[in-house]
Amino acid sequence: MSHRDFLAIPDFSTEELHALFALAERMRTGGYDKKPLAGKSLAMIFMKASTRTRVSFEVGAWQLGGHALFLSPRDVQLGRGEPIADTARVLSRYVDGIMIRTYKHNEVQELAAHATVPVINGLTDLLHPCQILADLLTVRQHLGSVRGRVVAWVGDGNNMANSWINAAWRLGFELRLACPEGYEPNADILARAREKVPVQVVRHPADAVRGAHVVNTDVWASMGQEEEQESRANAFAGYTVDAALMQLAQPDAIFLHCLPAHRGEEVTADVIDGPQSRVWDEAENRLHIQKAIMAVLMGGETV
Ligand code: CP
Ligand code: NVA
Repeated sequence: MSHRDFLAIPDFSTEELHALFALAERMRTGGYDKKPLAGKSLAMIFMKASTRTRVSFEVGAWQLGGHALFLSPRDVQLGRGEPIADTARVLSRYVDGIMIRTYKHNEVQELAAHATVPVINGLTDLLHPCQILADLLTVRQHLGSVRGRVVAWVGDGNNMANSWINAAWRLGFELRLACPEGYEPNADILARAREKVPVQVVRHPADAVRGAHVVNTDVWASMGQEEEQESRANAFAGYTVDAALMQLAQPDAIFLHCLPAHRGEEVTADVIDGPQSRVWDEAENRLHIQKAIMAVLMGGETV
């Protein structure tokens, strides 16, 4: 049986991504009332915590006529060492799609290799593709096309940063990332994107943010890096997105953060709670873009 997965942004072509945004926009604005997931189920494996991803996938599946199961390592045998491949084979006999959030990206690839239903990446240590598509939907909503825009990333070269680079590669916009030494994005992802689009890695946040249309940051210690909190706080000193830094961006620049946020660390309260912040729309857009993804991968909707 042929099926397609969504493990990374480049799994969709440029044209498909634009069509996916248009579909998600119809969903966001109430212009879509089909139930392509009627009678279908999504298994959601969470090896890490989640508020937005869990709730938006579960509610989104239900809104499309389907049903979602929340599977934590405490409840499923995967948490007791049952092989990923066996889990993939068994779940494929029950459900019509699998969403997984875990640590190692290759575990998601392994799940996809052995599943006979679509697999969706709900975050790995390497990538967070659903989030960046929601971020791009937010840019589209507030600024129009991302083409010709400059996106600034301030902070860790983490799963979010890597997915922004993949997005720049597919959609063709300028991306500038300010990362401390030793916290740069994935070298292979960076090299591939640089063959096509301007992606700069700089040291000083000001050099990334100056003239940018979108300013984006994330926590300094991601899930699984809790014991590095202190060393990271030292390494990221000076990388806080504050009002002075936002002043360097375009006057109508928007601020994005995937959340959860640590006010006073990577962003000040006046920025994340201020007039340029679009973080609540960004969180809402997880619902719309993931519904579009599920409708296409699991529900036969075409893009
Ligand atoms: N942004 C995001 O993925 O949030 P959760 O960790 O709450 O799912
Ligand atoms: N980089 C963060 C994103 C959380 C949604 C993490 O991986 O914890």
